[in-house]
Amino acid sequence: MLNKVHELKAEVEAFNSASVQEIEAFRIKVLGSKGQIKALFDDFKSVPNEQKKAFGKELNELKQLAQQKLELLKSAVGNTSFAAENKFGEDLSKPAIEKELGARHPLSLVRNEIIEIFKRVGFNVSEGPEIEDDWHNFSALNFPEEHPARDMQDTFFVEKNPDISLRTHTSSVQVRVMENAKPPIRTISPGRVYRNEAISARAHCFFHQVEGLYIDKNVSFADLKQTLLYFAKEMFGEDTEIRLRPSYFPFTEPSAEMDVSCSICKSKGCNVCKYTGFLEILGCGMVDPNVLENCGIDSSIYSGFAFGMGVERIAQLKFSVNDLRLYSENDKRFLSQF
Ligand code: DAH
Repeated sequence: MLNKVHELKAEVEAFNSASVQEIEAFRIKVLGSKGQIKALFDDFKSVPNEQKKAFGKELNELKQLAQQKLELLKSAVGNTSFAAENKFGEDLSKPAIEKELGARHPLSLVRNEIIEIFKRVGFNVSEGPEIEDDWHNFSALNFPEEHPARDMQDTFFVEKNPDISLRTHTSSVQVRVMENAKPPIRTISPGRVYRNEAISARAHCFFHQVEGLYIDKNVSFADLKQTLLYFAKEMFGEDTEIRLRPSYFPFTEPSAEMDVSCSICKSKGCNVCKYTGFLEILGCGMVDPNVLENCGIDSSIYSGFAFGMGVERIAQLKFSVNDLRLYSENDKRFLSQF
């Protein structure tokens, strides 16, 4: 009887196959519930007692050997081939196809944060069209006819006479809001704007702005300054400083540009802030009475402030991105960092 065990052992050792069917047939023949090893275990009962120990040991070794051999052959042909097949013939044990989760675009993150900051102090959100007429983009905003910003250089025209263009700033939304709402008005208008510029690291033919507008009785420049200081601290941190420099915009009087202390070098001076410690992030001012009147608001009763900021510029400060083109290249290596 021990011979039978040895014979089978030799057979198991010699067996080799790369065929799924052959390996399975071998498993049934040797290890199956009606297989050869099962039969030997049945024979075990009739082995004389004094031989039981040695026989049992050999038999267990044989079983282990057969099991190991089968595992080895199976993994060599790929274990998956042995997996249960479902009725569609799919191999359910295959590794799943990984689904990659998308992420918010850095400009969306920054835009959403700007919206949240202004919402907390009572501003709502308004939007306007990206294809705009001359009135909303220029005339109502007090741009003189011959103003260079209307030049072909800066503006993408869609139609001429009457002029229809891609909006060059979100200030056009101010006009639409004032035409349609009665003061008090507290609104911000995020959106994409277009300018006819050569694309480089520092300029793009489209970018994003958030416009702000506050119209009520007795609104002063102090309100503007305090609102912008609140924004800067919320956006860049409590120790952020702001600086207002006199400037000119046709639609505000007086006008200013606002700088924030450089959050990259903590105002020590770096190549982003050109060693000045400050970076310009927005234009602002008191809404020109002409603009109020153009939009049907009585400038003898109401006053207001407005501001417009570049989203890319703020994202650059927050994320230290120094090339504007990265935002629209859709490179996953860039986008997955936010
Ligand atoms: N529209 C201006 C621009 O695109 C930014 C701006 C400046 C908006 C002053 C304003 C403002 O509302 O008051 O450069």
